[in-house]
Amino acid sequence: MSEENIIVEINDGVCEIKFNRPDKKNAILGAMYEKFAKTMIDGNNDDKVRAFLICANGESFCAGNDIGDFLNNGIDFANSPQKKFFDSILQCEKPIVSAVQGKAVGIGTTMLLHFDINYAAENAQFSTPFVNLGLVPEGGSSLIFPMKMGHQKACEILLLGDSFGAQEAHSFGIINKIVAQNELYVAAKNVALKFANLPPNALKNSLALMRGNKNEIAAHIAKEGIKFGEAVKGEEARNAFMNFMMRKSK
Ligand code: COA
Repeated sequence: MSEENIIVEINDGVCEIKFNRPDKKNAILGAMYEKFAKTMIDGNNDDKVRAFLICANGESFCAGNDIGDFLNNGIDFANSPQKKFFDSILQCEKPIVSAVQGKAVGIGTTMLLHFDINYAAENAQFSTPFVNLGLVPEGGSSLIFPMKMGHQKACEILLLGDSFGAQEAHSFGIINKIVAQNELYVAAKNVALKFANLPPNALKNSLALMRGNKNEIAAHIAKEGIKFGEAVKGEEARNAFMNFMMRKSK
C-alpha cells in the first residue's frame, strides 16, 4: 500500500480519515484497514481529537475489500486487519461522521452501520452483493439490516444483492441527510465540527448510553467473520473473484 492510500489530518478537534485509492474506487487493502484502525485508536486516546470524519477521494466512497487481496491472502478473521478495523470503530468513544458519494459496496456500506451520522451525495449507491460473490454478510450487517428494514427487505439486499440509492438508505435510517455532491464534504465536516465543540464528557457518556451493547455486535461480527473466512477460500467465491478480475479481458 502507498502510505497515501489513507490520508489522515487533524484540525480543529476533527480527525479526518480519507480513503485515497480513487483509481481502484477506494477498494480497501489490508494495510489500509491497519492504518485506519491505528488512527481511530490513537484519536480515541488523544484529547485533542473530539470527533472523526470518514470520507473519500474520487467518484466512489469505497468498492469494498480489494478482491485481489482476498484471492491472494484469504482472511483469517480472528487475526485479520478487518477485525481490527471493526474493533477500532466499535471501541471508539467519540462521534464518527461520514461523507459518502458514488458507490459504497460491501464493507463500504457495512461500515456505515457503526457510524453515528452519515451524509450521502444524491448519487450515492449502496450494495452488499455478498452471496453473489459466494460470501456471507459481514460487519454485523446480518444482524443490523434486518433490525433496520425488516427481514424481507434485508433478504433482497443481503441475499439477492439488490443495490439501493440515497433515498432508500435514508428511509432505512442508515443515512441522515442527502446533499448535493459539491456540498457533501463541507456539510459532513460541519457536523463533525459541531460535535468537536460540544462538552466532551457529556458527549462521550451520552454516546455510550445510545450505542447499546457493542459486545453483542462484536460477537456477531466475529461469528460472521468465521463463515466469511471459510467462504473466501471456497470455490464459489474464488470463481466469483476470478470472474471479476478477468472481466475486462473477456
Ligand atoms: N477490488 C479490487 N479492485 C477493484 C475493486 C475491488 N473491490 N473495485 C474496483 N476495483 C478496480 C477495478 O478492477 C478497476 O481496476 P483497473 O482500472 O485496474 O481495471 C478499477 O478499480 C475501476 O473499477 P471499474 O470496475 O472499472 O469501475 P466502474 O465504475 O465500472 O465500477 C464498481 C465500479 C465499484 C461498481 C465495480 O468496480 C465493482 O463492482 N467492484 C467490485 C465491488 C465488490 O464486489 N467488492 C467486494 C465486496 S465484498
